[in-house]
Amino acid sequence: MATPIAPNATIAPAVDAEPQAIDAPLSVAAAFLVLGVRDDAASIATVRAVLGSTDDLIKNVAVRDISNTFTVNVGIGHRAWSALTGQPPPRELTPFKQIQGAKHTAVSTPGDLLYHVRARSMDLVVEFERLLLDALGDAVVPVDDVAGFRYFDGRDLLGFVDGTANPNGLALPAATLVGDEDPAHAGGSYVVIQKYLHDLQAWRAQQVESQERIVGRTKYDNVELPDAAAPEQKSHKTLCTITDAQGEHDILRDNMPFANPGRGEYGTYFIGYSRRLWVIEKMLERMFIGDPPPLHDRILDFSTATTGVVFFAPARAFLAGLGD
Ligand code: HEM
Repeated sequence: MATPIAPNATIAPAVDAEPQAIDAPLSVAAAFLVLGVRDDAASIATVRAVLGSTDDLIKNVAVRDISNTFTVNVGIGHRAWSALTGQPPPRELTPFKQIQGAKHTAVSTPGDLLYHVRARSMDLVVEFERLLLDALGDAVVPVDDVAGFRYFDGRDLLGFVDGTANPNGLALPAATLVGDEDPAHAGGSYVVIQKYLHDLQAWRAQQVESQERIVGRTKYDNVELPDAAAPEQKSHKTLCTITDAQGEHDILRDNMPFANPGRGEYGTYFIGYSRRLWVIEKMLERMFIGDPPPLHDRILDFSTATTGVVFFAPARAFLAGLGD
């Protein structure tokens, strides 16, 4: 006969480390809402309470979607971390470190909270944002709000399928969730966002073969091209492949296209989740400074990073605890 489990005994650690919906798949609609938090005590208290009720806020909208695909991940930035949580920050959490390449710069911009909302349609996204912002009131100032959409068969606005090399199965939590190396923050994930604007006219003037060499994949059927032999110009996918003695370090990308054609704006909202912040930082260094320098990622000759912020998306129980 099985031995009964004592109430609240062995299951507690696993529940504490339950992550947010980091592993949710790419959706048809998304929002990337970045907020600043006011520094006064009343604002901090309001934001803490709202963070603590994240699960309930999500449920209010999720239950109305029969497809059950509505998800929200919340990230907290370095500047507001201590005030909002009263806890030491995750080991690697720092502000976004600006990277100055010979030709292109990865800028660092403000942001205390990130809400990454994914849904099958935009009505759910907007409904959630409205309810959330009502609850936060004057305690926050909006920094940026970008609506992402699915472009055909999961392409970015450069015309390439984006997200193929993402980890899946057991490799996904292994690549994205903090573990025993930082027990107080186990189940959380570092999140980096960058909003890129594309020069589509210049990009479209390139031959498809040249575009494919820049990305490292074929455009039409999304087949990986061989890595260029050193010291040749490396493709985007090669520059973003980070290997060391432990093997390859993956991250999870949930990039979405966004656009405002009337204003001539076409972009990619980059969002990367990682167990280790340094892996994303290394990718950015290789993209902007080049490997070897000054052979930067040629995707940047057609894409300008206009924002850059680091957040940490804590485990669900950590967020819920902020409401106590
Ligand atoms: C303008 C912005 C960007 C665009 C349009 C873009 C697009 C793409 C595309 C089309 C691929 C190939 C298919 C795939 O595996 O998804 C790719 C791969 C990848 N990208 Fe990006 N990307 C952008 C920025 C970034 C940034 C900022 C990072 C990291 C800091 C990054 C990390 C990666 C990684 C890790 C891969 C997979 C490499 C592999 O094959 O293992 N990307 N990206």
